[in-house]
Amino acid sequence: MSPSLAERDLACVWHPCTQMKDHESIPLVETVRGEGPWLYDTQGRRYLDAVSSWWVNLFGHAQPDIARAIAEQAAQLEHVIFAGHTHEPAVRLAERLLKLAPPGLGKVFFADNGSSAVEVALKMSYHRWINRGERRPYFVHLDAAYHGETLGALAVSDVGLYKDTYRPLLLEALQTPAPDVRRPDRAADIAGCLEALDRLLQERGTQIGALILEPLLQCAAGMRMHEAEFVRGVAQRCAAHGVHLIADEIAVGFGRTGTLFACEQAGITPDFLCLSKGITGGFLPLAVVLTRDEVYADFYADWAEQKAFLHSHSYTGNPLACAAANATLDLFEARDVLGRNRALGARMEARLRAAVEDHPHVTGIRRHGLVLACDLVAQREPRVDFPAAQRRGLRAYRYGLEHEALLRPLGHTMYLMPPYVLSDAQADTLIDTLVGGIEAAVSGPA
Ligand SMILES: Cc1ncc(COP(=O)(O)O)c(C=O)c1O
Repeated sequence: MSPSLAERDLACVWHPCTQMKDHESIPLVETVRGEGPWLYDTQGRRYLDAVSSWWVNLFGHAQPDIARAIAEQAAQLEHVIFAGHTHEPAVRLAERLLKLAPPGLGKVFFADNGSSAVEVALKMSYHRWINRGERRPYFVHLDAAYHGETLGALAVSDVGLYKDTYRPLLLEALQTPAPDVRRPDRAADIAGCLEALDRLLQERGTQIGALILEPLLQCAAGMRMHEAEFVRGVAQRCAAHGVHLIADEIAVGFGRTGTLFACEQAGITPDFLCLSKGITGGFLPLAVVLTRDEVYADFYADWAEQKAFLHSHSYTGNPLACAAANATLDLFEARDVLGRNRALGARMEARLRAAVEDHPHVTGIRRHGLVLACDLVAQREPRVDFPAAQRRGLRAYRYGLEHEALLRPLGHTMYLMPPYVLSDAQADTLIDTLVGGIEAAVSGPA
């Protein structure tokens, strides 16, 4: 018998963020096609993509308008070096993003994945200080931050699972606490975090070039959420100390939190805004860093002054990805995406609360926009976590696959971050499946 696709895969492919030995017991899903929120495998089974395939998909799989835009672009111009050349899809996209983004941003730098966008923002910030004749060698990040897997991005991240091994390789960064909506006294939590930042800026402010944060929602840390008030407070403090603010909206941008950009809820404009993931509707890798004209001006000089930002990636500004992004923005213009997301999010939260709010093993139900999360615990009061080694989330993952859903818990945090195109009925079913997954995860011995 000829080997299955999964067998052929395991003989030659090394998958991301995976202990490959797990696949001795966990089957690889042989995916053949997608449609709307559904993924279909070679056996004809389907899975509702509750995680938007690592948070990239917005309008469903194989969305026809985006697919068509890519095909038309491919027949015209697939790629061109983006130094010395330009093309309509990139210029149009840059113009549109600057109109949609918080006011005060004037230039768009292209990259091709989220981590690269973070690298660009970090380097651009550092380099700007040099161009202005100052050395500010430190970056600040929040606790529980996640900004990607490349070395610069890892250095300003704080998820031990991904960072610890590589610590000796990483540049030294400074950390400041982030609030968490699960803590009881919200005002005191936010005030305490801002006071800690005040102290850090007072002590080290002149050495700090930039502070990077994920506004409202720290996804990889287990869908940790905070209030817009904190983001506003951070922005004010950065401005007061002349520290650049880098907003990483790679995961939360493009409508996830109920506004097009999370920064809008805080009423702030960062100095660097990193976007990726949903920018192409989940079709192709693309990232951008939006920045202020004043930043650009500090790099604009005669060649001999050596102020240019000499950073590049081969696929910078890829026309196919830009065409996908423009088609994605067209869908935002054609539909009330944000209104629908807010309504869908509220509906899903209400149904989840009705099902598990009093569950002895569930705590911390929380939501921003269309991102809904809760935590599995051994005991609620006082809180006792399940030992990480029990990998109870994995039981929910398996339950999901057996019940037509791709759930992918983050440790013992269960969450939903689905494509925006769920019907009410699909959303209800998804919540029911999540609840089933929770039961499967918490029941049974360790
Ligand atoms: C907030 C945030 N920043 C950066 C990244 C890195 O993006 P990429 O995986 O495209 O490198 C991620 C990925 O999950 C993310 O969630």
